[in-house]
Amino acid sequence: MPTKSHSLTFCLERFRALHGEPSHVFFAPGRANLLGAHMDYNGGSVMPVALSRGTYAAASLRNDGMLHLQSSQFPGETVVLPLHQLRPKRTRGWSAYVEGGLWTAMQRWGTLPGLNLVLHADLPMAKGLSSSASVECVAVLLVSRLLGVLANTEEMIHLAHAAETQYVGVRCGILDQTAIFLGRANSVLLFDCLELTREHVPLDSTQACIGILDTGVARELASSAFNQRVAECTRALTIFQEHVPGLTCLRDVRAEDFAAHADRLPPALARRAKHVLGEVARTQEGADALRRGDIATFGRCMTAAHASLKDLFEVSTPELDAMVDAAVGVDGCYGARLTGAGFGGCVAALVHPAAQATFSAQVSAAYCQATGRQAVVQWFAPASGPKQLEL
Ligand code: GLA
Repeated sequence: MPTKSHSLTFCLERFRALHGEPSHVFFAPGRANLLGAHMDYNGGSVMPVALSRGTYAAASLRNDGMLHLQSSQFPGETVVLPLHQLRPKRTRGWSAYVEGGLWTAMQRWGTLPGLNLVLHADLPMAKGLSSSASVECVAVLLVSRLLGVLANTEEMIHLAHAAETQYVGVRCGILDQTAIFLGRANSVLLFDCLELTREHVPLDSTQACIGILDTGVARELASSAFNQRVAECTRALTIFQEHVPGLTCLRDVRAEDFAAHADRLPPALARRAKHVLGEVARTQEGADALRRGDIATFGRCMTAAHASLKDLFEVSTPELDAMVDAAVGVDGCYGARLTGAGFGGCVAALVHPAAQATFSAQVSAAYCQATGRQAVVQWFAPASGPKQLEL
């Protein structure tokens, strides 16, 4: 039998200290998006991986209709409330994501008789690695299993997504929950958010691993700035639609449409649309390259995507830029870009495994010299999706 990870053991110990023996324990990964930034709500393609770290959830049923919820990250904040009193957009902070997952799943499959739940995440929070979607996904999975529902993956993706859009109130696309549920070892998911087609493109682990480089700066104003970008893209689309018949999403704006009509858009909106056009092309080029095992070209697309996120979509920060510069300056790095929505958090870098040690040392030194801050470098391989674990 495999030995229990430290994180799982920690989660189980916390649960036992509060509630005795759990009946179930689950895990859902986080994710890093390698290409296709801000494309999901514009109908484009994304290329994420699920990460081997994420959220552990130990649970047992109660019979008094109450939710007793605790997270090891916030040990002083136990949430105790009747499950039937969960209401969208009322809670803020970490517990909203858990409640959202429970709420959407119970709306669909029926209410639990009561729930003890302890979470432990071994993923940095608010750093662009989808710690929140990981919580939503684990909550949806646990409701299905505790109610004995045979839910399919599509349904769980949509329920976890609804947790974020309806319960929490962030207008995100479907990237995070899809990346988490469809994660697979040794591959990058290529997901077309309009056609809903999927492909697992192999990533040879002897040639590339994923470095997650934490700038040490949490995302700021992430949800309001994110919603603002969504609104800007919607507005840009509306303006193009006035001149391009049949257009349904920004990803379908062609280069000639852009050239003919971009000057009708306020400059900031034209920059957002230009990023989308460029990212459509980069994702296609990157996917083609990865299919033939050309990781170097894929990596160059990642670095070009970062430049576009910085200059056109304007969601980078000086620290993220300094980290990307530090990463791409090291031999063995194929490419790097901010991961997640931006506004702070982490950079994802694709690196040859033989270069790991020198990469960590050189990036840390260069980043510290540029910003005076400490970088934290962690290594990941693409991982599989959410699962129930053995107790
Ligand atoms: C956040 C959102 C996703 C996606 C990314 C940007 O992670 O939750 O839906 O839009 O930003 O690619």
